[in-house]
Amino acid sequence: MSEAPVIAVDGPSASGKGTIARRVADELDFHYLESGALYRLVALDSLQRGIVSGESLVQCARQLPVSFHNERILLRDQDVSDAIRSEACGVRASEVARVPEVRKALLQRQRAFRMPPGLVADGRDMGTVVFPDAALKVFLTASPEVRAERRYKQLKDKGIDANLRALSRDLQDRDARDANRPVAPLVPAPDSQVLDSSALSIDEVVERILAWWRERSGGARP
Ligand code: DC
Repeated sequence: MSEAPVIAVDGPSASGKGTIARRVADELDFHYLESGALYRLVALDSLQRGIVSGESLVQCARQLPVSFHNERILLRDQDVSDAIRSEACGVRASEVARVPEVRKALLQRQRAFRMPPGLVADGRDMGTVVFPDAALKVFLTASPEVRAERRYKQLKDKGIDANLRALSRDLQDRDARDANRPVAPLVPAPDSQVLDSSALSIDEVVERILAWWRERSGGARP
């Protein structure tokens, strides 16, 4: 039996890939994987338990006692859906994501999301490492200014305190760390479609991806 098709949506922080990937998954009735949430969960769990590095950190990633309930995410029995969204957690996630053994520990967990009728997966290495055979690979970008503004608005809407200048600096640091790490760096897969969303609405980006998907899957409309 051939495996369920995957649409990989990779890109830098605050490029809008989460919102877009979720919408595409809804339109196609596909499953959805937000891989960044797994790194954020390892970050939060290790912060809460005072674990900084080494084998304990890798164990943390291997054993991550997480369960997903629609939009809510439980770590042990604590609802951490909002806690993992803080900038501090994002910065720490980008640090733990540099550790090759942590990435390895999360690999199978990510691949387990691949189920019929299909999967939309967003992250940094979906098209390069986790699902190299993805049927469609999209690399979503936006200018640093647009991304900082979007993240600022996202945090404010959630009632989380934010400072645009500090956010912009954090995003740049995080981009540099994600793009320059030796393992699974943030780079477009050679066979990906690169899409700059700076001047596009969410609907326009979703429609563009669905159009690419229709081309690849033989023109079937969702
Ligand atoms: O997508 P995000 O901003 O929630 O991800 C948080 C961090 O996790 C990001 O800075 C880098 C890391 N990450 C990763 O290394 N690989 C992924 N597939 C997803 C996220």
